[in-house]
Amino acid sequence: MRTIQSWDDRRDLWIAPTEEEAILFAAQHWILTGQRSIQRRGRFAVALAGGSTPKSIYGTLASHHRNALPWNQVHLFWGDERCVPPDHPESNYRMAMESGLSELPIPPHQIHRMHGEISPEVASREYDLLIRKLLLPGLFDLVMLGVGDDGHTASLFPHTPILEEVNAYVGATLKPVALQQRLTLTFPAIHGSHHVMVCALGKAKEAIVPLVLNAAVHSSFPASALGAHDKKALWILDAAAARLLPLSDTKPKK
Ligand code: 6PG
Repeated sequence: MRTIQSWDDRRDLWIAPTEEEAILFAAQHWILTGQRSIQRRGRFAVALAGGSTPKSIYGTLASHHRNALPWNQVHLFWGDERCVPPDHPESNYRMAMESGLSELPIPPHQIHRMHGEISPEVASREYDLLIRKLLLPGLFDLVMLGVGDDGHTASLFPHTPILEEVNAYVGATLKPVALQQRLTLTFPAIHGSHHVMVCALGKAKEAIVPLVLNAAVHSSFPASALGAHDKKALWILDAAAARLLPLSDTKPKK
């Protein structure tokens, strides 16, 4: 039987033998979190992950879970966005909608994309105000995240000023090297939310997963800061991404 296992006092792991099973579990966990949020708070406000990993999760929500939630109580947000128009191939909004979310009966006025097509400073201030208006005193019921090869999450890249932001919930930043302008939730928005799930799948993640999970909370890997004692982050992995994790009892105690 597959169970959620504790990594430390801030993170839990769920490791599937295959990528397909990890995707199915991630979609089920998304739905369960939504059901619980709607029961408790009358709404499910979720910040969606970008990149390629979540595409299959969004597709599974549409194909397997269409009748599992009252979609009129679901509010979609994004954890980060590339500063491009919504129809651009690199848009996280376009990726999520085309991967399956556009097939779900979510009221269009409850789909809150980040406006990547306008000035990043204006768009980040606008999104910050939107979050405060729609969500406070709470924040997101779920923040979906991935992890990059450098340990970034959302668009919180190593050694960038936005990592130090303590007040704003959204900021404008640059992807290093590529110098691509990005919009991203900040750590106050992520840490202030009810639940964080991180999905990392495949052999390409086998090196960064142990680095991030073994690093100190304030390491050079922004993703190592995810999770708190009172709100553990759930890392959903497949065996390929978890291959180098020391999962026996020899795991270094923190
Ligand atoms: C993005 C994401 C980013 C992503 C990681 C992992 O906009 O690209 O927010 O943080 O989650 O880079 O990307 P993959 O899922 O493509 O490996």
